[in-house]
Amino acid sequence: MQKYFLGFVGFLFGIVTYAQTQTIDQKVDSLLQKMTLEEKIGQLNQYTSDWHQTGPITINPNKQADIINGQIGSMLNVMGANYTRQYQELAMQSRLKIPLLFGLDVIHGYKTTFPIPLAEAASWDLPAIELSARVAATEAAASGIHWTFAPMVDIARDPRWGRVMEGAGEDTYLGSKIAYARVKGFQGDGLGNLNSVMACAKHFAAYGAAVGGRDYNSVDMSERMLLETYLPPFKAAVDAGAATFMNSFNDINGIPATGNAYIQRDILKGKWNFQGFVLSDWGSIGEMVTHGYAKDPKDAAYLAITAGSDVDMESNAYRYNLAQLVQENKISVTLIDDAVRRILRKKFELGLFEDPYRYADPTRQQEVLFNPEHAKIAREVAAKSVVLLKNEKQILPLSKDLKTIAFIGPMVKLKRANHGFWAIDLKEIDSSYIVSQWEGLQNKVGKNTKLLYAKGCDIESTDKSGFAQAIKVAKKADVVIVSIGERYNMSGEAKSRSNIGIPGVQEDLLKELKKTGKPVVVLINAGRPLVFNWTADNMSTIVYTWWLGSEAGNAIADVLYGDYNPSGKLPMTFPRDEGQIPIYYNHFNTGRPPKDEQDKINVSAYLDLPSSPKYHFGFGLSYTTFQYSDLKISQSQMQTDGSIDVEMKLTNTGEYAGAEVVQLYIKDIVGSVVRPILELKDFQKVNLAPGETQTLHFKIDKEKLSFFNQRLEWTTEPGAFELMIGASSADIRLRANFELTN
Ligand code: BGC
Repeated sequence: MQKYFLGFVGFLFGIVTYAQTQTIDQKVDSLLQKMTLEEKIGQLNQYTSDWHQTGPITINPNKQADIINGQIGSMLNVMGANYTRQYQELAMQSRLKIPLLFGLDVIHGYKTTFPIPLAEAASWDLPAIELSARVAATEAAASGIHWTFAPMVDIARDPRWGRVMEGAGEDTYLGSKIAYARVKGFQGDGLGNLNSVMACAKHFAAYGAAVGGRDYNSVDMSERMLLETYLPPFKAAVDAGAATFMNSFNDINGIPATGNAYIQRDILKGKWNFQGFVLSDWGSIGEMVTHGYAKDPKDAAYLAITAGSDVDMESNAYRYNLAQLVQENKISVTLIDDAVRRILRKKFELGLFEDPYRYADPTRQQEVLFNPEHAKIAREVAAKSVVLLKNEKQILPLSKDLKTIAFIGPMVKLKRANHGFWAIDLKEIDSSYIVSQWEGLQNKVGKNTKLLYAKGCDIESTDKSGFAQAIKVAKKADVVIVSIGERYNMSGEAKSRSNIGIPGVQEDLLKELKKTGKPVVVLINAGRPLVFNWTADNMSTIVYTWWLGSEAGNAIADVLYGDYNPSGKLPMTFPRDEGQIPIYYNHFNTGRPPKDEQDKINVSAYLDLPSSPKYHFGFGLSYTTFQYSDLKISQSQMQTDGSIDVEMKLTNTGEYAGAEVVQLYIKDIVGSVVRPILELKDFQKVNLAPGETQTLHFKIDKEKLSFFNQRLEWTTEPGAFELMIGASSADIRLRANFELTN
């Protein structure tokens, strides 16, 4: 009975939901009928505010008049309840009073900042990642923002590319899961809720594969790689309900993404049936002229709108050319209507036609932005993002009885830098809420521990005059903690580096501190995998702290003292040398793989380097140890539509409670196209008390075994597979073989 009742309720709910969509569509249609062509084109035009610019500066003294004249549909870089209200008031003076959308790069937090996205990916903790996006959305929405230009879901296999900091790393499976979690986090219970913002999956597509890791550079890749490796996180974003997409600056095999009908019309709006709208990247429509793909801005406008780019961010190509293109019958007005419809639908869903100011409430803004719960969440997520790379002498966790600690290095007392790149500079809020690493340690140590400080050197200069003081301070301490790395804005947009070493004389400082014979803990702050072979080989204790956000100091102290046992695992491979790049774990075997690290005879290897990376994808240590055992698979033959249950035991064999990320990889032994040496297909993050054992279950099904065949069909092929479960892509603890049959 209950089942029927629920069925009936579901049916009614379906009718109501259908009726609501109908209503929005009808409202959109009737509004569209009232709009002039100019007003329609206005909806496709997006400008930045003048006081915060995130791209090449554009000057437009008539912005305010343009809003009143209905020539702007959305703005970026306007934030705060008061400012957004002021702009919205201008839109309310326009003939049809169509509200503006306010978009902003809320990439890893708004006021409260979270670890940079690559660091968060190292947590492999999907609920935590979703929660961090949730908090960011709540704060941004209370500040009048309707729309974040996030998540960036670009797969990145080249750490020279500065924007690796903004994504989830190199792996498609992990990246797709994280893309899904972030979209869900930003959009919460759905558009229209006052704590949700529209997500924007970017940069569509393949932006992370820029040749040479140089930002904005061309991308040349096979269609199979595009479909199999680079697009799935975008599909996951669509599945999670992402309201919008942003395209990318790069060309893909010669066709700029912004003018690329194959990816935007055929795949995104066609095959994936994406109902939201697509935004260009900053000026990317106009830049098609510079690419040499469009002959002038008018041609660029034609190519972009035809290819499915709905909104023009900052290039003015739509504003000044679309009307003429319609009048000349080069494009039909239905093409424009489709784009406008997509945008208006979102404005209705956000409830802006009912109340254009509903997100701009200074009282709510004050309450939400200073909610202490947000800082608590940021601290937890930050601790989860830290990766312990080395703890050879078990210096960590630090003893609570230490008398004197020397905290040394150019990062120790920095404040804003802990935000990392892509943090929003909230001008009206001072930075006192950001916890520096120094403050974090101070908060942690008891009265009986003395903290000493020396800067030692700058991040980049060659000046060693601070070394003497650092050595003096180190000699007085029981333990030395050294915080070094790259400047927070050495990773980010347009921040490609050809040399990704630790800048300046920071490693020289380490060499001197090591000579004191004191136990030294090295903290490495960075927005990307760095190359630091001397440190890796000579220092006993290394913690990768990335940029952890406004609670960085507290979170680092939590990890150092074992109040949080590190559980992060690298979401990108760390090379030994820039010459190995691009480097990623799920490569092909080639016909001549080296037998071992030293094998150089007629094999695919570099003469001057071992054949492995410095740190492998999925690697990360804990203060405890885990044992993997008792692997059982339900059958060794699987029919295409069947499945295999996988069972194993995980035991915490050490002395500390801790979390392990158990990673499941698969290798398809023979394929009609070559398959990677292993591919991540599942993982679980498990918390265990010392001595505790837990039985874990995984399921292998068709989806995990599928790939794009020679005809680019998503399919499975019968044959042998290897199943591998381990603590990293190079630390496989359990193996089994099975066969897929027809
Ligand atoms: C970036 C985008 C960003 C936009 C607006 C561009 O330069 O590539 O990711 O959303 O600027 O700030």
